[in-house]
Amino acid sequence: MRIGIVGAGNIGGTLATLFTRSGHEVALANSRDPRTLAGQVAALGPRAHAATAAEAAAFGEVVVLAIPLGAYADLPPEPFAGRIVVDANNYYPARDGRIAELDSGALTSTGLLARHLPDARVTKAFNTIHWEHLRDLGRPDAPAADRRAIPIAGDDAAAKAVLTDLIDQIGFTAVDTGLLVDSWRQQPDTPVYGAEVSADQATVLIAQARR
Ligand SMILES: NC(=O)c1ccc[n+]([C@@H]2O[C@H](COP(=O)([O-])OP(=O)(O)OC[C@H]3O[C@@H](n4cnc5c(N)ncnc54)[C@H](OP(=O)(O)O)[C@@H]3O)[C@@H](O)[C@H]2O)c1
Repeated sequence: MRIGIVGAGNIGGTLATLFTRSGHEVALANSRDPRTLAGQVAALGPRAHAATAAEAAAFGEVVVLAIPLGAYADLPPEPFAGRIVVDANNYYPARDGRIAELDSGALTSTGLLARHLPDARVTKAFNTIHWEHLRDLGRPDAPAADRRAIPIAGDDAAAKAVLTDLIDQIGFTAVDTGLLVDSWRQQPDTPVYGAEVSADQATVLIAQARR
């Protein structure tokens, strides 16, 4: 599969490693000239190349966003049209600036992104797991019950099925949090956020979330 990754830091860089290792083609972007990623993509091997954010979006059947949430408005919506977008981002006001619709709960952070990318098939995943655990705890050969859960959300069932399969390939188990409007259940300060748990345990924690 062709996967674009916008954001080449802790989460984006880790996912680039995991996805290329699983046999996928990756286009990796940051906020700058793709030449700044030459060393990183060389280390990833022949399945990875550097791109601009727009090029990574155009390249990917799936496009992961792993950037500071406040930078979402920089993304050009057009190349994301029709793409399965996976939002790994979290809202941290100290870093991202205050966003009134998020503070009030009128929108989830991924809902805000979906409004910016109206023609994309937006999902949420990888936002609850610390990047070092993402790097180290995948167990592709273990049965699902022995794996760490990755909560996912989204309105497009087919997109979530693709995402679930990708998560399985890198050794985790996707747990469905619900629609994008429900994705607050996996945002910061909820029980499942940062929890190192199995799928069954994650399902309980997601249900325990309170606004
Ligand atoms: N760290 C974690 O364990 C963790 C876990 C779950 C979720 N998250 C969330 O995932 C997101 C990324 O976190 P991170 O720790 O991976 O951050 P990070 O290491 O600081 O990396 C951020 C990346 O985003 C790029 N970027 C910034 N603005 C951009 C823009 N306008 N267009 C394209 N790329 C841009 C940066 O590129 P430049 O180098 O060019 O600035 C950098 O490659 C955040 O929303 C974070 O809250 C983090």
